[in-house]
Amino acid sequence: MAEPLRVVVTGAAGQIAYSLLYIIAKGDVFGKDQPLILHLLDIPVMMDVLEGVVMELADCALPLLRDVVPTDDPIVAFTDVSAAFLVGAMPRKQGMERKDLLAANVKIFKVQGEALDKYAKKDVKVLVVGNPANTNALICSKYAPTIPKENFTAMTRLDQNRAQAQIAAKLKVPVGMVSNAVIWGNHSSTQYPDASYAVVERNGTVEKVTDIIADEKWIRETFLTSVQKRGAAVIAARKMSSAMSAAKAAADHMKDWFLGTTPGKIISMGVISNGAYNTPKDVIFSFPVIIEDGKWKIVEGLLVDEFSHSMLDATGKELLEEREEALKIIQA
Ligand code: NAD
Ligand code: LMR
Repeated sequence: MAEPLRVVVTGAAGQIAYSLLYIIAKGDVFGKDQPLILHLLDIPVMMDVLEGVVMELADCALPLLRDVVPTDDPIVAFTDVSAAFLVGAMPRKQGMERKDLLAANVKIFKVQGEALDKYAKKDVKVLVVGNPANTNALICSKYAPTIPKENFTAMTRLDQNRAQAQIAAKLKVPVGMVSNAVIWGNHSSTQYPDASYAVVERNGTVEKVTDIIADEKWIRETFLTSVQKRGAAVIAARKMSSAMSAAKAAADHMKDWFLGTTPGKIISMGVISNGAYNTPKDVIFSFPVIIEDGKWKIVEGLLVDEFSHSMLDATGKELLEEREEALKIIQA
């Protein structure tokens, strides 16, 4: 058996972590042969709650889970980790946009960037879930200059999963038959959920979703806005932000990053932009990617029409504004 892998989850006493820890610890992310040591970080007032989570992890009796390290000390949390799920941050409430959380959350990601830089493995793979995820990931990377920028990503997989679920419901097919829906840009209401490359695989055939759903109004209005606003719809109903589906998406993201994407399949993740598709450089922008040998690569050369370009411009502009605001908050 392999040596245990050290994995940190921040916000470990919170809602998302409560679902995520079990998914990780039972081997669904890093593989069924990969023993794990889980580092659980939260803030001092949450240590009693965290102790309960630690008890429950023990009571799950999971063979791959070799040790659990609960802590409120970022040094302990980040030392020697190979994977980091940065979940710990304040969630938004009804009526807020995710960028309204910048003032409350962005400094967390500066501190954690610095700690990752000093104590984590240099090839650590970092997934930022805490909102606003793209800009928090950018700030985290900025404060971890000795770790490659490619190792900092933001979660838009939940939006991709939502998009594929909407398409499956419209077509009345199982969601597992739908793939390659793309999320461009920010994990915010300016994101561009794009069905242009999505496909349905059934009975050995692969069909483009846009060939089956010849209803442009549904694709450009109903589908698009329902995915953009799904997070707010969950908050309105639950009075708390999505947690189970966010945990599942975080697991999907990290699993594909560690173990690779299936040939022919595209996934979406927020990664450092190199300006592909005329997007602004040096923001964490969600692109279609494929992953091989632990390295993501933006899928280039997709046909992007005028409508799509205008959507990419809008979400790119918001990311530039968020970057500016985040830097102001940090320097204040
Ligand atoms: P929650 O309030 O239930 O849990 C957050 C936890 O983080 C709390 O236990 C809190 O004490 C902890 N925390 C706060 N500051 C911390 C710090 N400096 N270090 C370590 N832990 C810290 O919230 P949740 O529902 O788990 O959501 C967490 C974040 O994830 C929110 O910002 C939410 O908006 C975001 N989110 C993102 C996505 C996405 O798709 N990217 C999806 C869902 C939620
Ligand atoms: C989501 O998309 O569900 C999360 O980002 C939580 C939110 O604030 O919408």
